[in-house]
Amino acid sequence: MISLESAFQRSLFEHALEFAGRQIGNLVERYPDFYPMYTKEGRWKHELPAWTHWCDGFLPGMMWILAGREAPGGWRDLAIRYSRPLEPRQFDRDVHDLGFIFMSTYYRWLELTGDAALKNVLVQAGRTMGLRFKEKGEYLRSFVSDDSLFIDIMMNVGVVFYAARETGDEQLRDLAMRHCLTTRRVLVRGDGSTAHEGLFDLETGEFLKQSTQQGFRGDSCWSRGLAWALYGFGTSYNYSGDPRFLRTAEACADFYLAHTPTDGVPPWDYDAPPESRALVDTSAAAIAASGLLQLSKLSTDPIRGRLYDAAARRVLETLCSDHLAESDPVWEGILKGGVYHIHKKLGVNESVMWGEYFFVEALDRALETTTAP
Ligand code: GLY
Repeated sequence: MISLESAFQRSLFEHALEFAGRQIGNLVERYPDFYPMYTKEGRWKHELPAWTHWCDGFLPGMMWILAGREAPGGWRDLAIRYSRPLEPRQFDRDVHDLGFIFMSTYYRWLELTGDAALKNVLVQAGRTMGLRFKEKGEYLRSFVSDDSLFIDIMMNVGVVFYAARETGDEQLRDLAMRHCLTTRRVLVRGDGSTAHEGLFDLETGEFLKQSTQQGFRGDSCWSRGLAWALYGFGTSYNYSGDPRFLRTAEACADFYLAHTPTDGVPPWDYDAPPESRALVDTSAAAIAASGLLQLSKLSTDPIRGRLYDAAARRVLETLCSDHLAESDPVWEGILKGGVYHIHKKLGVNESVMWGEYFFVEALDRALETTTAP
């Protein structure tokens, strides 16, 4: 029997996906072949800086998700048009984001079409990421500097595991494992909260201190960083089978559930001072929802699995009911209330491309297991 709750969720999530498809279609029509990052007052095109170029996979990534839900045709052709120009970035050594760029695009493309030539691009992207590895300290360095490790890189180590698996390269796998173990040791705290950045002594490889670029403070918990960790350690467990990564993902998920308001959408930083505490980050919520849905399938404890699944659906219900841009006819994004870089005043309380992508991914994942009426 179909419960009223699951029928309600299904129609809410389907409606949100339809709206997402319309907004993406409008974006393509209004700004053809433009790869946006965050809005300014709801508009994708503006003169504000990017800080770093890590988001170009998210627009085609959403197109691939939508393509997976229909017969070959419209979305697939568009997804190819927007994915192909990213190919040279398989060699890009300036960013630590090749997982974001290629797992959202080439990986989905390969999965959908089985075109084996696409695998070479993914493998090269994984090898390029591997070149960021610092032997002293044992981590993949952030784009900022050699001595810096970001929690965000947990979302990009997956492409390194992928390349190692597909090529049987044990050395590559080993450095992906060591990166995860270092991140777990220095950026994930005993209570499951996370630091954004870790700094190392380049001479000795010694870990020096927790720091931040986008969070409130080095000792605070930036909510998007927590969501990256929750999701990324789940992915790393999936590739490696190492139970330490599952336990870490669960600890981060448990912190998220214990410290986020009951509607499921966290403040931009859990330790933000009173004057900015009311500012939420819906992108952190979208990432957490998708990561929780993944974790609900990975958890070996069925009770935890059900808890994570229910929590993810609750987050999605709130995003669909309270944060969709649908009622604002001039807003060009899908989800309002994302935060990019509060200190640089970039994309604060705006739509952000990664929020859009993980929201669409989470809706798609939730609909796979929501009983069809
Ligand atoms: N640089 C990744 C993020 O803003 O979360």
